[in-house]
Amino acid sequence: MKQTDQEIFATDKASYVPVFNRYKIVLDHGEGVYVWDNNGRKYIDFLGGIAVNVLGHDYKPLVAAVAEQAGKLIHCSNLYYTQAQADAAAKLVKLSGLGKAFFGNSGAEANEGAIKIARKYAHAISPDKSQIITAWNSFHGRTLATLTATGQPHYQEGVGPLPAGFDYVHYNDIEELESLMSDKTAAVMLETIQGEGGVYTPENDYLKKVRALCDKHHALLIFDEIQAGIGRSGKFFAYEKYGVKPDIVTLAKGLAGGVPIGAFVVTDEVAAAFKPGDHGTTFGGNPLACAAANVVLDTVPQADFLHNVETVGAYFKDKLAALKDKYPTFIKEVRGTGLILGAELTSAEHGRDIVNDCLEKGAIINCTVGKVLRFIPPLIITQEQVDEVVAVLDEVLRKYA
Ligand SMILES: Cc1ncc(COP(=O)(O)O)c(C=O)c1O
Repeated sequence: MKQTDQEIFATDKASYVPVFNRYKIVLDHGEGVYVWDNNGRKYIDFLGGIAVNVLGHDYKPLVAAVAEQAGKLIHCSNLYYTQAQADAAAKLVKLSGLGKAFFGNSGAEANEGAIKIARKYAHAISPDKSQIITAWNSFHGRTLATLTATGQPHYQEGVGPLPAGFDYVHYNDIEELESLMSDKTAAVMLETIQGEGGVYTPENDYLKKVRALCDKHHALLIFDEIQAGIGRSGKFFAYEKYGVKPDIVTLAKGLAGGVPIGAFVVTDEVAAAFKPGDHGTTFGGNPLACAAANVVLDTVPQADFLHNVETVGAYFKDKLAALKDKYPTFIKEVRGTGLILGAELTSAEHGRDIVNDCLEKGAIINCTVGKVLRFIPPLIITQEQVDEVVAVLDEVLRKYA
């Protein structure tokens, strides 16, 4: 029997580890860019499950592929081959221009694997070549190594001792990176575009200069594209936009359109650092997840699909800039590219209230680091849907400005 919202809140409170600061709605189903709650109320979804539902909700080819695969074989372990996994890996290799792919189940697991293979590769050069440099304000996951890589100390409090060998630099500060790197650096790991930390894009050929420093010190360059990849920047990989190729790229979130998956993709040279038995996973890359990934990998890289991300993204950014002009004391800066956009508020006072007010008016948006309204919607959104959300935002901001 269908339960009421209050019953579900009570069951959750009694039964679920209280780590999520949830909004008080119970979601039931979705279609395209819209979702409906338990009471039949419709919302426009400009969060897309935190950059996951790239093809929107109930995308028929994805649903059909998952249903067909589930009817054949959901899981069989990585002791055997499946066509779904081989196809998905081949597509990632072709799209990335790298050499080999490995599938896990989440972003953290993809990054954990990337750090591990980078260390293993570096260890063969020299046993003390183990330093991993990441950026302040980054986000790389919640496992012990990836939360150590995450340059936001509040996530690390109280769970130490943390894995050793991580150092941090300010994103976009090339001199600081240069001063910290040496032949002991195993890898530099950066989000191509910082997402959770407040939507920051690389400036002044920063990533090209990082590539040059990595080459100088024979260190690997790892791009975490878990949030910014899979077409979100307007290119399939965000690094294509900045003309820089990494040695390792990590993906998750949108890769299977909502079915859990993560991946690291590496050059052949790096892949050779792992021998049989050095890494593994029970679920990672199972046929169900890979069948879903194959739909995403056949759809998102298409030129017209990516063109839509670029044009709708530019339109959306202009509309946000117009809101900034209208409310200059309230919006400080509009940042981002494609469909990873942020509007930084002048203060953190009303960040969560704005998200709640938008929700009340039927729009799902997000606020990160307390004061950056972040927009990472499904990549299929239209200009009319942007107008719909901007109208809600305008109404809400008017109340606070
Ligand atoms: C850039 C980036 N890396 C890693 C992660 C961690 O991914 P997951 O939550 O799937 O472990 C996230 C999640 O927000 C992310 O944005």
